[in-house]
Amino acid sequence: MKNKAIGVFDSGLGGLTAVKELIKCLPNENIVYFGDTGRVPYGTRSKETIIKYAAQDARFLLEHNVKMIIAACGTVSSVASNLGESLPVMFSGVLTPTAQACAQATKTGVVAVLGTSATINSHSYKNLINSINPDIKVFEQSCPLFVPLVENGFTDKDDIIVRSVVDRYVSQFKNSDVDTVILGCTHYPLLKAAIGEALGDKVRLIDSGKETALYTKKLLMEQNLLSHREEEGVREFYVSDTPHNFESIAGLFLGRDMKSKAVRIDIEKY
Ligand code: DGL
Repeated sequence: MKNKAIGVFDSGLGGLTAVKELIKCLPNENIVYFGDTGRVPYGTRSKETIIKYAAQDARFLLEHNVKMIIAACGTVSSVASNLGESLPVMFSGVLTPTAQACAQATKTGVVAVLGTSATINSHSYKNLINSINPDIKVFEQSCPLFVPLVENGFTDKDDIIVRSVVDRYVSQFKNSDVDTVILGCTHYPLLKAAIGEALGDKVRLIDSGKETALYTKKLLMEQNLLSHREEEGVREFYVSDTPHNFESIAGLFLGRDMKSKAVRIDIEKY
């Protein structure tokens, strides 16, 4: 059991922000990643569709005999919040670790959450933060243009399109009481430099992919499920559309050659 892989899924590239951190903190673990690039974005879809997609993604990962599944997706974690209950393996979304990190980080008690439309409409982060500390004031902002930007490789903070889209969503929080901002969609850390520059250095950014990876390490330790492997873990990548775009952006982000590393699968079969 311990040497089985960790399964991670997202609608596309976003979950790689969790994978990058998992590779850092759990280098000996095997990882199976599924990015639903054929059906991205999830964040503008209905609840029923998101629940259906998430169940298919999890079934695909279960076929790879994983020991744990991570929905490295703020949208799935917010909308398909019961997914874990139907799974035969340990499950984590991104909400709990991210909300906890935010509640701990804020000094002013005023925070903001950036997320997809589905995530923001669910108020999932706000509710969870306030269940940890009801005195924290939580602003919410949906940023529907961020995922298409990232999926199309627009992440450079000096790109005029990136800057103007980022400004449009976050400038309201600059020079305000907000001292902590949650990047509540796992795609957003790919825009971290641009978001950080737009907000200024007094605002702390909480990366949901990173917090989830750190939380996963803790969970696996507690459950005595860490791999015994001494060599570097094997990572497999699957996508539901042509791998080319995924491989080039993933390669840049993970800092490794991803050419011919992703395999296309038919997710509708699951
Ligand atoms: N990366 C995902 C999230 O964390 C999904 C974004 C999308 O597909 O809209 O919400």
